[in-house]
Amino acid sequence: MNLDEILQEAIKNLENSYAPYSKFRVSACAIMENEKGEIGKFFGVNIENSSYGLTVCAERVAIFKGVSEGYKKLLRVVLIASKDGEIVEVYPCGACRQVMWEFGEEGVEIYNGFKKIKLGELFPRGFRISFMPRHRGS
Ligand code: THU
Repeated sequence: MNLDEILQEAIKNLENSYAPYSKFRVSACAIMENEKGEIGKFFGVNIENSSYGLTVCAERVAIFKGVSEGYKKLLRVVLIASKDGEIVEVYPCGACRQVMWEFGEEGVEIYNGFKKIKLGELFPRGFRISFMPRHRGS
């Protein structure tokens, strides 16, 4: 899977961002695997709300789309943002980093069009299911 091609698709999908308040458009693609070992790519955009706190980031929309279609293992994230029509470098917020830990390992690669960085480097020691008492896995 070519990350730069996915980046181009994500850039195109910036037009679907719903950001009337911040005007900061974000687009993400979560590359995920299902239990059959099939790989899927799921695109998401930021979706804002007039009740500001209900806004959801592009990364979480993308990951939740994958999970809800049975692709529960996160492999990679491609991410891009635009401000005043210009592509800008962005890194996932803390909440999204934690969600990435739920479905991925520290080696999950995050590509923002400028840099590639591993989840473990961006957000070391995220909270994991294995910390929970009597968890039975996923
Ligand atoms: N946003 C994302 O979609 N992803 C990030 O990683 C950072 C922030 C969105 C949320 C909101 O719509 C806008 O960017 C400004 O915070």
